[in-house]
Amino acid sequence: MHEKTRTIEIFDTTLRDGEQTPGISFTTEQKRTIARQLDALGVDIIEAGTPITSKEEKEVVQLICDEGLSAKICGLARILAQDIDACVDCGVDMIHIFVPSSEIQREHTTKMSEAQVKEQAYKMTRYVKERGFMCMFSAMDATRTRLEFLIDLYKTAEEGGADILNVPDTVGISEPFAMYELVGEIYRAVKVPISIHCHNDFGLAVANSLAAVKAGASEVQVSVNGIGERAGNADLVETVMSLNAIYGLKTNIKTERLFEMAKLIERLTGIPIPVTKPVVGDNAFSHESGIHTHGVIVRSDTFEPGIMTPEMVGHRRRIVLGKHTGKHSVEKKLSEIGMSPSKEELEEILERIKELGASGKRVTDDDLFSIAEVVMGEIARHERIVELKELSVMTGNNLIPTASLKAVVRGKECTSAQMGLGPVDAALKAIQQVIGGEIDGDIELKDFRIEAITGGSDALAEVIVGVKKGDRMVTARGVREDIVMASVEAFINAVNRLMQR
Ligand code: KIV
Ligand code: ZN
Repeated sequence: MHEKTRTIEIFDTTLRDGEQTPGISFTTEQKRTIARQLDALGVDIIEAGTPITSKEEKEVVQLICDEGLSAKICGLARILAQDIDACVDCGVDMIHIFVPSSEIQREHTTKMSEAQVKEQAYKMTRYVKERGFMCMFSAMDATRTRLEFLIDLYKTAEEGGADILNVPDTVGISEPFAMYELVGEIYRAVKVPISIHCHNDFGLAVANSLAAVKAGASEVQVSVNGIGERAGNADLVETVMSLNAIYGLKTNIKTERLFEMAKLIERLTGIPIPVTKPVVGDNAFSHESGIHTHGVIVRSDTFEPGIMTPEMVGHRRRIVLGKHTGKHSVEKKLSEIGMSPSKEELEEILERIKELGASGKRVTDDDLFSIAEVVMGEIARHERIVELKELSVMTGNNLIPTASLKAVVRGKECTSAQMGLGPVDAALKAIQQVIGGEIDGDIELKDFRIEAITGGSDALAEVIVGVKKGDRMVTARGVREDIVMASVEAFINAVNRLMQR
């Protein structure tokens, strides 16, 4: 085997085994869209369905065959003439026939002896070939089948004319060393190419597929996002990228389309891609901790594999802010949009981000920019005329909302307690009273707006206020997770600005 020059075929079974995922059923249009996208991605074979199962399934397979795609279209069939005929009727390029071969499956499902399995496998392989179709033969539950019989069965299918032999780990019980041994045995016993079909019951589907390729398999059966029976099949994206980046083997996949493909299946199945999913998960190229982000900003492969970049798979690198954030990432993000905070401002921004992150919130770029605007727009602490010290509010269905507040105004500590129509109203009345007592002239709240910066009940609230004193008016903002705090902060920022002018 000339490892580096081998091109591994990608056989996608998203539309067949993938659709067998409990709870998933694609519409005809969705299946056609998926088939087109798989073709654009560069998969070699699309297993479009099992035409014998229903009239509708047969029609969809037919429609996919009529799409004129570059990928070969394959239909699945038991080793029964009527199943094979249904595939023939659809106009597929390839027929995948399978038969249970392990003792447990033979005894409890088909009730066929090993000899009967062999005989029927031979007959049906011939049947497919006589009709002029490419034939893939699968010994179902191969990894639990008696080895001698398994080899004999594959040789029989080869004699019958099978073009490719598939080795299914139907219940996902193999492990890479065992898989390597098994596929090696089969590889040495036959001349036709070998395909591998792994289920993920122990999370080893991708590893087992790679081991099979090491042992000589030249095709891997995968599904997008690993959907399929029970824990699913080997994931297409992970398998392809491991083959490419780790093994240095070629596939025909346009890897820069992988992220988009995974997202399409996420949308159509409604099964969310976990954030930690390799290659395409939200966190696959995200960095939060100070050491990591600093490293990645200097050189991305300090804390990424390097042999796989976000660009290669159509994803993007993200510097995520949170409780582990360091000042380099904040500085970099802000400089990208032309903001250059002073040392003090940077520290204040960082402190607020860490506070937010520690409360379990995912801090977005929008959160950062709003916080930075507020901090950089604020007057430095020592120049502040009003500074909030304490605020508490009480509210409820049987309570009149009440706010108690302590603030330092022009160096003097003042307190106030006020009731209001709601907690924000009460808090604003309290701060207005405190300020009104220490500053000459009326300070009026003229404008008040609340906006959620990001979605979700834990979103940051941005409050924008317009505050007037005499004929002067300023607008200021407050950004906090807590609407009451954001409102009071915005009001205080406005007063500080008004008094500075
Ligand atoms: O898991 C399996 O054995 C299958 C066969 C039909 C190949 O899906
Ligand atoms: Zn399967």
